[in-house]
Amino acid sequence: MNANDFEPVIVAFCCHYCAYAAADLAGSGRLQYPPNIRIVRSPCTGRLEINFFLRALESGADGVLVAGCEEGSCHFKEGNYLAKGRVNTARQLLKEAGLEPERLRMVNVSAASSQRFAECVREMVETVRKLGPSPVKKMMGKNTNQQQIGAIR
Ligand code: FES
Repeated sequence: MNANDFEPVIVAFCCHYCAYAAADLAGSGRLQYPPNIRIVRSPCTGRLEINFFLRALESGADGVLVAGCEEGSCHFKEGNYLAKGRVNTARQLLKEAGLEPERLRMVNVSAASSQRFAECVREMVETVRKLGPSPVKKMMGKNTNQQQIGAIR
């Protein structure tokens, strides 16, 4: 495979109330965004554990996008603040394991912001495309960062 042919797979954890609604609106409004994301709907980003992000990478994702409500607008009050802290911790763990922390990102999107959702997806796909395939995926089964991820989980 030519490096230019690389199409990253991004797992996008979207909260039900805002990010998922924005994704849905983008779809019904026929907004164009890269088809590289696999959306996982969550009641709230506060439900997401660090383990979920690491497991997604371990299972073959090249990047993970966490999309929640705007700060101050979480339907469970502080879920997106909890998620922000967990994402930051997970990014630090990735760095310590020798992986690029840019493979994990959190964004905040209101339910009406289909344009912003599409833009966030485009930016994430571009970032990960530049990073290249996840080393975890590339070296699956060898003495790799995958084991390092397993060790920090
Ligand atoms: Fe959207 Fe909590 S309900 S982040």
